[in-house]
This record gives sequence, C-alpha cells and structure tokens, in this order.
Amino acid sequence: MQPPAADAPILFFDSGLGGLTVLGPTRALLPTAPIVYAADYAGLPYGQKSDVELAARVPALLGRLVERYQPRLAVIACNTASTIALTHVRAALDLPIVGTVPAIKPAAEMTKTGVIGVLGTKATVRQPYVDDLSATFASDKTVLRHGSPGLVTAAEAKLRGAAFDPAAIDRAIAGLRDQPGGDALDVIVLACTHFPLLHDELQAAAGPQVRLIDGAAGIARRIAYLTQGQAWPAAARPGVAVFTRSDEREPPPLSALAPYGIGRIETI
Ligand code: DGL
Repeated sequence: MQPPAADAPILFFDSGLGGLTVLGPTRALLPTAPIVYAADYAGLPYGQKSDVELAARVPALLGRLVERYQPRLAVIACNTASTIALTHVRAALDLPIVGTVPAIKPAAEMTKTGVIGVLGTKATVRQPYVDDLSATFASDKTVLRHGSPGLVTAAEAKLRGAAFDPAAIDRAIAGLRDQPGGDALDVIVLACTHFPLLHDELQAAAGPQVRLIDGAAGIARRIAYLTQGQAWPAAARPGVAVFTRSDEREPPPLSALAPYGIGRIETI
C-alpha cells in the first residue's frame, strides 16, 4: 500500500458534537493533521436507537464518508457506535479504524473503594462489549451502569452556548449513586464522548471524592502511534465539519467549532 499523502485527513465520526472531545487531544499531539469531523445529525441520538439499526447505519455512512474524503484513518469517536458497530466497520472498510470504548480498565486500576460507575448512553450500557470489559478488567470490582440521554442533549446545547436543564446532571449522577453500593462510588467512566463537554458540571455534582475519566487521551496516543512516520502538512489548515442533513437540528455556528480547528461546515 502507498503511504498516505500529506494532505490525507483523519476522519472523526460521531452522532453529534461529542467526538470533538476526542479531536481536541488528537490535535494537541498532531497539530498539522488535516481534519474532517463528521456528525450524523440525521441519526442523533444514537443512544436511543436499536443495535440492529446502528449496526447497519454506521458502516454505510462511514463508507460514504471514506469515499468522499479519502482519509488515512477513521476514528469512531462515539462509544455507542464503537461498542455496536466497530467489527462491522472494520470488516467493511479497508483503512485503519480506531474505536472508542469505555475506559473501564484504567477505572479499575484507579478505584480505591472497588466501586466504579459507567455513565453512557442507554445503548452503550446494555452492550455485551461492556460486560466483556467488566469481566476482563474489573471482575473483582462492582461496576454500576447508567444510561443518560439527558446528558447528550445538555452537552449539545452547552457547546452551542445554549441553556440546558441543570437537573439532567444531578439525575445522571443519582442514576449511579442510588444503585446498591453507589454510596462508595469513587471513579466514574464517562462512556459517551459527549459527556466530557460537561466535565465541570458532572464533577461538581459528583463531589471531590469522585474522579471522572474518559478514554480520549489514550485514543489520541493510539492515532499518533498508527500514523507514526507518515507525512503531514507543514502548517495547520482549517478543518471541515460535515453534518448529515436533519429537519430537526441545524449545524452549530462555526464559532462553536473554531476552537477545534474547524474552518468550514458542509451538510450532506
Ligand atoms: N457521543 C455518543 C457516544 O459516545 C452518543 C450520543 C448519542 O448519539 O446518543 O456514545
């Protein structure tokens, strides 16, 4: 295989704006990497969809995006899509695919009380993938799970600079803490890429004894490793954000995406 051209982008994919929390640390490691950020607004929220629907939708859409933008590597910057469709995507596409899965392993290493919370979408927290991660890395811990669609809505609003319901934050934390053993919770895995956008609010609601972790820094390192030795442009150029067309929501203003290096918005 030919090495990728210097201007071949990295493609980030999420249902919405959550994948920006993976894009951020990746840009810090690879500052001149050309970026395409794709958000499936026509499909948001993924967390409320069936596994069957997502297993078909995600590979098909990624296939279109890969054909259009010819990336050197694609990142499924979404826990829901990764835990359901990563295998299907890898089977369907001939390029390196990096997925995003709940950071249960580091959480298990970090907990002192032995009680970990996994906060994700409703679809993610019911996945066998999460059972497997828990059995492999946290078999001697208590792993509590809670699915919170309200946090996805709140994170989308916050990034646009819009108001959101603060009760959604308390409800999400209570969803873990009110379970048996929840009082001893000392680490929460943010298992949806939208949730780090609400890090400060979640930290305030959970209290100082709880540490929040997500996988974004590890994913950025993995992307840097997989692209090691490849050519990059000499200087950073503005990236493009592409949104699938939705009757229900407009793309955010460009000013909300500019801090992530995005200079242009397209809809498909
Ligand atoms: N950002 C997504 C995740 O990491 C999902 C949000 C949604 O569409 O429900 O799971």
